[in-house]
Amino acid sequence: MKKGKVFSGVQPSGALTIGNYIGALRNFVGLQDEFDCYYCIVDLHAITVPQIPKNLRKRTLDVLALYIASGIDPEKSTLFIQSHVPAHSELSWVLSTITYMGQLNRMTQYKEKAKKSEENLNAGLFTYPVLMASDILLYQADFVPVGDDQKQHLELARDLAERFNNRYSETFKVPEPLISEFGARIMSLQNPESKMSKSDDDENAYILLLDDSDTINRKIKRAVTDSIGEIRYCDEQPGLKNLLNIYSVFSNEDVESLVKKYDGIGYGKFKEDLSEVVIEGLKPIQEKYLQLTNSKDYLEDVYKKGAEKAAYVSGKTLRKVYKKIGFIPK
Ligand code: TYM
Repeated sequence: MKKGKVFSGVQPSGALTIGNYIGALRNFVGLQDEFDCYYCIVDLHAITVPQIPKNLRKRTLDVLALYIASGIDPEKSTLFIQSHVPAHSELSWVLSTITYMGQLNRMTQYKEKAKKSEENLNAGLFTYPVLMASDILLYQADFVPVGDDQKQHLELARDLAERFNNRYSETFKVPEPLISEFGARIMSLQNPESKMSKSDDDENAYILLLDDSDTINRKIKRAVTDSIGEIRYCDEQPGLKNLLNIYSVFSNEDVESLVKKYDGIGYGKFKEDLSEVVIEGLKPIQEKYLQLTNSKDYLEDVYKKGAEKAAYVSGKTLRKVYKKIGFIPK
C-alpha cells in the first residue's frame, strides 16, 4: 500500500535546466515507490507567455521524455499532459471565485513576470496560481515536491483548500510542500543573486539538461565567481556557493569534503572538475532521452494512459466539488 499522493508539474516553456532537475525532477524519482505520484506537463500554464505552437508541441514531448530519462517510471507514476484533462481548467474556474484579488496581487512571481511583460500582461499570468492550486487539489495530493520559488504558490493552494473546506465541508486534502533543504534554489551562473531560469535572456546563465559537453565546459568556465580566490562555502561568495551546490549534487560528495578537497587549489581546476562531473552526470539522462525521442509511439502510449488515469482520479474530485456548490449533476 502506498502512503499517500504526490503531485507536481513542470512547464514546457523552454528546455529544462539543471535547476529544474536539482530542485524538482531528481526528487520526483525518489518518491515513486512510497507514494502514488502524478507528474504533469503543464502546457496550460506555459501559454501564459507567448509560445510558438511548433515549439510548444516539441517541448511538451521533451519534458515527458526527460521525466522518464531522469528515472521516473511510467509503470509506477502517472505521467500526463495537463490540457488532456479538462478538470484542471474546470476546477480553476471554481477556485477563482473564492480567490481574493489581493492574494494574487501579492504573488512575487506574478510581480516579476508583470514587470518583464508589460505589453502582454494577460489575465492568465495573474490567475496562474489558481490553476496551479487546481492541479494539486484535484488529486488530493498530500505532498508537492517543488523548488523554493513555488513556495508562495503552494501557500495559496493550501489556503484555497481550507477556504473551500470551511465554506462547503471537508472536500480537499490540504497539501504540504516538499522542498529539499539542499538545491531548492539553483542560481544563475551569471548573476548568483537570481534564480537559474530557462527563460533567462542570457544563455550563459543556465545549463540545460541537453547541453553538450563543449557548451557545459564553456558555461562553467564563464560562470561568475569573485576575486577572493579561495574555495569556501559562504554567502560572501554566492557564485562559488552555487557551483559547490551543483558539484555536490552531481558528485554525491558533501560540500564540506569538496571545500577540503579544493583547499589551496584555484578556481580554474575546480571549474574543470565541476564541468566533468556535470557532463558525466547528465550523460545517462541524455542517452535515454535520445532513445525516447525515437520512440514516439511509446511516449504517446505513456501520455494517453496517464491522461486516462488522471481524468478518472480528478473527475471524482470535480464531481464532489460541483455537488457541494449546488450544481445539478448531469
Ligand atoms: P517550472 O516549470 O518553472 O519549474 C519546474 C520545477 O523546477 C523547479 N525549479 C528550480 N528548482 C531549483 N532551482 C532552480 N533554479 C529552479 N528553477 C525551477 C521549480 O520550483 C519547479 O518545482 N508553477 C510551476 C509548475 C506547476 C506546478 C503545478 C508545480 C504547475 N502546476 C502543481 C507543482 C504543482 C512552475 O512554473 O514550475
